[in-house]
Amino acid sequence: MYDRRAFIKFAAASPLFAAFPSFRETFQQGNIEQAVDALDVFDFQSLAQKAIPPAHWGYLMTGVDGEETLKANRDGFTRYQLRTKRFVDVSRLDTSVELFGIKFNSPIVLCPVGSQRAFHRDGEVGAARAAQAKGHLQILSTQTSIGVEEVIKARGGPIWYQLYTTDNFDVTTKLVKRAEAAGCTAVAVTVDLPAGRNTETMTRLQRTDTRNCGSCHEDATGDLANPRVGGGTNANKPMFAGINTQGLGLTSPSLTWDFIKRLKDVTKMKVVIKGLETREDAAQAVDHGADGIVVSNHGGRATETGRGTIECVSEVAQAVRGRIPVLVDGGFRRGTDVFKALALGATAVGIGRPYIWGLGAFGQQGVERVLDILNNELRLAMVGCGTRIVKEITAASIIDTGRRG
Ligand SMILES: Cc1cc2nc3c(=O)[nH]c(=O)nc-3n(C[C@H](O)[C@H](O)[C@H](O)COP(=O)(O)O)c2cc1C
Repeated sequence: MYDRRAFIKFAAASPLFAAFPSFRETFQQGNIEQAVDALDVFDFQSLAQKAIPPAHWGYLMTGVDGEETLKANRDGFTRYQLRTKRFVDVSRLDTSVELFGIKFNSPIVLCPVGSQRAFHRDGEVGAARAAQAKGHLQILSTQTSIGVEEVIKARGGPIWYQLYTTDNFDVTTKLVKRAEAAGCTAVAVTVDLPAGRNTETMTRLQRTDTRNCGSCHEDATGDLANPRVGGGTNANKPMFAGINTQGLGLTSPSLTWDFIKRLKDVTKMKVVIKGLETREDAAQAVDHGADGIVVSNHGGRATETGRGTIECVSEVAQAVRGRIPVLVDGGFRRGTDVFKALALGATAVGIGRPYIWGLGAFGQQGVERVLDILNNELRLAMVGCGTRIVKEITAASIIDTGRRG
């Protein structure tokens, strides 16, 4: 006899659904009651959209300009294909990686994402607990909605602190010293937003939100895309507590390479530069004493280059020649994406929106499930390509077709 429920269950689990997002969404309703029911990270996207108010959703999902770079971050992966390898004993796999002498269970890193309480009341602490449960590195944003001390406590281990440089070095020094005193082992200085950006999707969605933004944001007319700390929407962020933020810029358009030395002079933390994409900048970073690089276009939210970060990894890795770790983020949604980046020379891979979808939908449990899903997909890619440890994933594990598929 025809069993409709059984058919829907069977159909919803089919990989064919990935090709039909609206169909997929139709059947997803009611099928995901708890985080463990989700089958891939996209399952969390529509659930999070329902849970998160429109203006905040716009902040999360926006790219810049016509969002070509946002799209390229996903499309770039189609350039690369996996090369399988059979008859390798893959009964024991190890996905762990080491960064600055600390071992993590997986090369997947939680990227700095600002204002996480805008997505779920647990905010960065929810993400930290998930990172602890699964043994992942977490990088905390300068724009965190919870102070670094509390987040480190929840993580129960070292995290990295993401630094917006501000345009006042005394303030920058205070932020860095506070992060170091709290126990952060590295500072990831973000350099891809020196002077603003054009986040149209965010503005459009803000206009559809009927809530009174002024009840939470000190200055609801402040420009979220080009934040000034003082007097704007960022004035009450915990990392700026006790700091005079009047007229303070979150970043500085006059920043040059000598900033890295100044930063190294005021901290013992490792200094990682986040937001490089070219071999020239990578070589400069090494020459100026950087301890690591994150290849990133801020998730398609900085310069509208039209390049996916996966397409930038190998030129950066080649320029670095293994001297410092190279991380990459932007558009990673599948374990095979992570595998491709590792094959192209990345040491680790960051995710932004996917874990926030998990957080928005189910708090800590959602973030944990996102990590489980991606780790499991990565393991399957490793099994299929006969790579038992992360270091065995090399250029020989993939093909660069030279064109997006
Ligand atoms: C809502 C949102 C807020 C972000 N906030 C920061 C931030 O405060 N500092 C930073 O360096 N990067 C920030 N990023 C960029 C992420 O660290 C990361 O580079 C990006 O999200 C990776 O791309 P993905 O979202 O496609 O995974 C943010 C990204 C998003 C989506």
